[in-house]
Amino acid sequence: MRVPAKVNLALNVGATDNEGYHALGTLFQAVSLFDDLVARPAEAGVFRVSFRGEGASGLPVDDTNLVVRAARLLAETCGTGNLGAEIRVHKRIPVAGGMAGGSADAAATLVACNQLWGAGLEPGQLHALAARLGADVPFLLCGGTAVGTGRGEKLRPVPVRGSLQWVLALSHHGLSTPAVFREFDRISPPRPTGIDPGLLAALAGGDVHSVGPLLGNDLQRAAVNLHPELADVLAMGREAGAAGALVSGSGPTIAFLADTPAAADAISGRLALSSRVRAVRRVHGPVPGARIVN
Ligand code: C5P
Repeated sequence: MRVPAKVNLALNVGATDNEGYHALGTLFQAVSLFDDLVARPAEAGVFRVSFRGEGASGLPVDDTNLVVRAARLLAETCGTGNLGAEIRVHKRIPVAGGMAGGSADAAATLVACNQLWGAGLEPGQLHALAARLGADVPFLLCGGTAVGTGRGEKLRPVPVRGSLQWVLALSHHGLSTPAVFREFDRISPPRPTGIDPGLLAALAGGDVHSVGPLLGNDLQRAAVNLHPELADVLAMGREAGAAGALVSGSGPTIAFLADTPAAADAISGRLALSSRVRAVRRVHGPVPGARIVN
């Protein structure tokens, strides 16, 4: 199984519901930074996960892990009681990076275990399970580029002409998504959640220059408040020629839009020199969601 990371080209944060979740209007794009996952059979009732790669050592592998929760949820839905899985994940998506790495692994687990167990759940049924696991999980099943509403789980795919080139600046430290939403609530009233039709038109037309200035993230100021050095990184990439720049999701990863390969080179080169940036990744989007690869 291969599953991509996401960036949010727009992230508009509205009012909270009675469970403390925010109404969102977001534009997701799946990008070519992938976790790989393999699911093998295990004894009945055993759901085990192990990680290697990017950030693997800090991840919990107990029942709180979203991979274990996804496998259990699918097994409960099948209702036979004799299912188990041993799941290995090779991580490349940064942990606590605002790129939905945990949600991606959960989405991949649903697809992998559906196949492993011959469960035969349809995409709509997997989507419903995904939404119970987290707001970003359904999108990682679908991939591509999509508007997300509700908590982010109601998806509408949107057309994109061509491909967008991104340079990602990975941070030394993670950010907690609930902490970023709390900071947003402290500093900002709820915002309108509608997606700018100009952004959708620019994407449909493949007009990268118009896309750049229309990128926006209501959580950016909250993420920068919690990690002030992100402001410097944003400025660095813009000065190096990015057509657009924003914090991805709840951060701290920053996504820079590059309009040419030469611009991507210049931005990557500049970021690689900065001690504030742990690593640089060049990716493109859209790419498909969780899928089986040989
Ligand atoms: O859905 P997920 O578990 O990925 O969300 C992580 C946290 O992000 C939630 O516990 C909540 O604090 C915040 N969140 C939110 N509104 C959303 C999605 C997430 O407040 N629509």
